[in-house]
Amino acid sequence: AVAVTLILGLSLGLTRRQKTIKSTFFSRCEKFKEHDCQKLWDLFEKAHVNKDPCNVPVEAYDPLIAAAPFIPDCKKMMFWSGTKDVVHDLTAKRKDCYFTLEDTLLGSILDGLMWCGKNGKDDTFTTGCPGWSDCENNPVRSFWKCASAAYADAACGDVTAMLSGSTTTPFDPESIFASIEVTRLKAPRVSSLNVVMVLQMNAKSDCTNASLKNLQNQLDPNITYSCKDVAEHRVEQCGSQPQIMCGSCW
Ligand code: APR
Repeated sequence: AVAVTLILGLSLGLTRRQKTIKSTFFSRCEKFKEHDCQKLWDLFEKAHVNKDPCNVPVEAYDPLIAAAPFIPDCKKMMFWSGTKDVVHDLTAKRKDCYFTLEDTLLGSILDGLMWCGKNGKDDTFTTGCPGWSDCENNPVRSFWKCASAAYADAACGDVTAMLSGSTTTPFDPESIFASIEVTRLKAPRVSSLNVVMVLQMNAKSDCTNASLKNLQNQLDPNITYSCKDVAEHRVEQCGSQPQIMCGSCW
């Protein structure tokens, strides 16, 4: 009886875990209507299932990304680093002004989720997976690198990047924004990169920060660079007051 209970409990636990990420995936996917969520789920699983969770290369997610192409709106593309909450609070309320990778189909499906496969197992797991920095080629990190590269490749027009004045290195070379996205922005498809330095009380850095020199050096010289120091409450105001025109948010 003990063995039966154990096996039942274990398999129930496994199904429940499995069901959680799968049902989250489908319910988030179905909000976008016109897409084939089952096909996306199958491609998602194919990238990491039955693999060593530290050996999933970035390219494993290429077929998934290719199946859900970005339809960029050149007036609205937003990048960010170190400002996740303030940016997504804004884009949730001001879809008329800005959107981020996490507001696109795949980005919104997988935002905040953790997953991996395991050698010899046919499931997607959400526990016992490597953390972001435990090994370079973990499924979550590889997915975000792959999606960020495709998102930056699709960028056009005047793009905005919200960086954080609360750190001493707002343009952090280890970040996805610095290591993947910036160098993929290409003129003349992209005409300008407009950095918004989000300043909280007691900010540690602003547009004069030395790391922003590295950003300008890495940027395609034919893309016009600008930087503006903006108090965080001003960004929040733009979200809470829909009558403010997009171009007048800061
Ligand atoms: N541990 C866990 N998660 C991490 C880590 C880490 N050490 N580093 C990054 N992440 C994940 C988290 O999900 C975090 O919310 O990446 C997210 C963003 O990390 P930041 O350092 O704030 O920013 P950055 O690495 O520049 O990524 C943001 O990439 O997602 C795209 O288009 C998006 O422009 C945006 C940029």
